[in-house]
This record gives sequence, structure tokens and C-alpha cells, in this order.
Amino acid sequence: MTALTVRRLLIDLEQPIARHWCGGDAFLTAWFNALSMSFPIGEQFFIDSVRKGFKALSPEKQAELQEEVQGFVGQEATHRRIHGLFNKHLKDQGLDNAWERRAEKRLAMMGDVDPRHPLGVTAANEHFTALFAEWLLARPELLSGCEPRLKAMWLWHSAEEAEHKSTAFDLYQALGGTLEWRSRWMKRVTWIFLIDTLRQTANNLQRDGTLWRRSTWASAWRHLLGKQGLLRQSHGAWRQYFQANFHPNQQTSGLSEQWLAENRDLYKPVGAAA
Ligand SMILES: [Fe+2]
Ligand SMILES: [Fe+2]
Repeated sequence: MTALTVRRLLIDLEQPIARHWCGGDAFLTAWFNALSMSFPIGEQFFIDSVRKGFKALSPEKQAELQEEVQGFVGQEATHRRIHGLFNKHLKDQGLDNAWERRAEKRLAMMGDVDPRHPLGVTAANEHFTALFAEWLLARPELLSGCEPRLKAMWLWHSAEEAEHKSTAFDLYQALGGTLEWRSRWMKRVTWIFLIDTLRQTANNLQRDGTLWRRSTWASAWRHLLGKQGLLRQSHGAWRQYFQANFHPNQQTSGLSEQWLAENRDLYKPVGAAA
């Protein structure tokens, strides 16, 4: 079992944010904004999936995983709240969260299914999120041109994502989820996640009037496909998910613990949400 602390981030998100808050880089700003737009609905789905999966466990397994599940729910609920505040500023800037509307329709279609399916979707998304978190924690300089409160928000979220990356996976395994379905969901989630991220990023750039600037595309290339870019750097770790003996904790780097230890003044530990 992983002990998960719920932390209240000590930043003020009432003040508006700059249009190109990520160091003046239009692409990075639009891309981070797109990810943030997916969090309130996505993280609520992860919470619901984990709660539902937990209820389906045997009493012995429930006793074993109860604290971790509470910590997971508390962390994701805190992320939702903070990103909800951040997203309000994006709306005020005239950006349109089309990702959320698409996700709502997809989730409504999923209906009441075996809890292993939503858990399979959640575990795949959590793997994705963990890869992104590790990539960002290894490159905090990407956020060096940001206001300290925004840098803190993204790195705190990344640190906690790395911390709780195995919770949904462990529940899926405990409920007898198969490798076949785990792999199927990962393939589907990969396509949906990549397409949604790119569509929302393009939508944000279009509304910002920076979609067709050369500098926007140069930044996209560098940060996604370049040598140090997310896709090239994370592809190997993504592929490992399809191996029968994979477990998320095999990809632990220590960067999460390091950030949390070095930035204690930025958060306050609180009780886990039930
Ligand atoms: Fe989160
Ligand atoms: Fe998460």
C-alpha cells in the first residue's frame, strides 16, 4: 500500500493570470491550458471509478487498500478544485472548453458497466499522467518564466500524480482485470487523449490568434517531438504498460519525493477525503 498525503496548496488563484502565462510561450501556454481543461471532468471520473472499484473488493482487500483509496480521492479532489479556479480565468480570457463537452458525451455512453472497465480507463490515464508528471518534474525550467504560484501548481500536481500512479492499477489487478483489457483500454485512451489534447490546444491557439505563428509550431515541435520532447522521451515508458509483468512503481524516479521535500512551504498537509 502507498501512503498518500492530501496537501492544500498555499497559492492564491483569485488573481487573474497572464494570457501567455507560461514564460510568454503561446504553444506551451495553450497546451497546459488544454490539459487543465480536462482535469475537472477527468479527475471526477477517476474518483468515481476508484470508489466503485473499491466497493467491489473483498472486505480483506478493502481493509488493505482503504487508506490509499482515501488518499487518492483526496488528492484528485484537491486537484479538481484548484484547476477549476485556474480554468475560470481561461474562460474569462475567451477560451472555450470543448474537451469537457466531448468527454461528457463519451462518459454518458459508458453507462453502468463492470467496474473493471472504468478502472482500466483510469489506470491508463493515470499512466499517461504519470509519464507527463515525470517529464515535467525532470524539466522544471520549462516553467521558470511563470509566476511562482503557477509553477507551484503544476509541479505540486505532477508530484502527487507520480505519488498515486499505482492506485487505480492495483484496484484493477485486485479485481482480476486482464492484461488483454488493460491493453485495449490503453490503446483507446492513447488515441482519445492525444486527439483531444491536440484539438483543444489548437482551439486555444486559434482563439488566442497565435495558431499560425511560426514560433508556435517551433515550440510544439521542440516540446513534443524534439529530442527532449514529451513524446520521444516517454514512448519507451508508455510501451512498458503492455507487458504482462508491468507495475507503475517500476518507473519511480524519486523526483516527486524530492520536489515535495524541497517545497514544504508551498503546501499544508490535511486529512484525506473519504
Ligand atoms: Fe490529479
Ligand atoms: Fe491522478
